[in-house]
Amino acid sequence: MAYQFSSQSEQRFQKLMSMFPDKRSVILPALFLLQKDKGHVDTEGMEYIATKIGNPIAVSHVYGVATFYTMYNKKPVGKYHIQICGNISCYIMGSDGITKKFCDKLGIEKGETTKDKKYTVEEVQCLGACGYGPMAQINDKYYEFLTPEKVEELLKTLE
Ligand code: FES
Repeated sequence: MAYQFSSQSEQRFQKLMSMFPDKRSVILPALFLLQKDKGHVDTEGMEYIATKIGNPIAVSHVYGVATFYTMYNKKPVGKYHIQICGNISCYIMGSDGITKKFCDKLGIEKGETTKDKKYTVEEVQCLGACGYGPMAQINDKYYEFLTPEKVEELLKTLE
């Protein structure tokens, strides 16, 4: 069966459509609804959104938005989506070591998900917490001033 928004997402989508005179403004929140429903944004979902928004939104426009932002998962991610900022401020403060620690502890490489689908580790661009690096976002929460030791403690809380 072809994808459709969950009833909750459909309600939210209809509200968004009534709020924005320029329907292009609905693309970003609609992609979040898709991600909330499916865990990631895929081609089927992007086509669905473009069709639902209608003229003049093309699938390529939705795809362009989704691929521009790292906050949209283009493939399924684990229960804990660990995103380490690798941008300059965090890099200078040691983000490489933080990423390596996460990967070593979980037995995966950057960009991979553990076999049990529990953890995904990714290096991402600036998350807007440049003064608190090295930092990571795990699902919706920020973890700042990370050290390899803090990573070990943090992983114990994500069982
Ligand atoms: S450089 Fe890491 S949050 Fe901005």
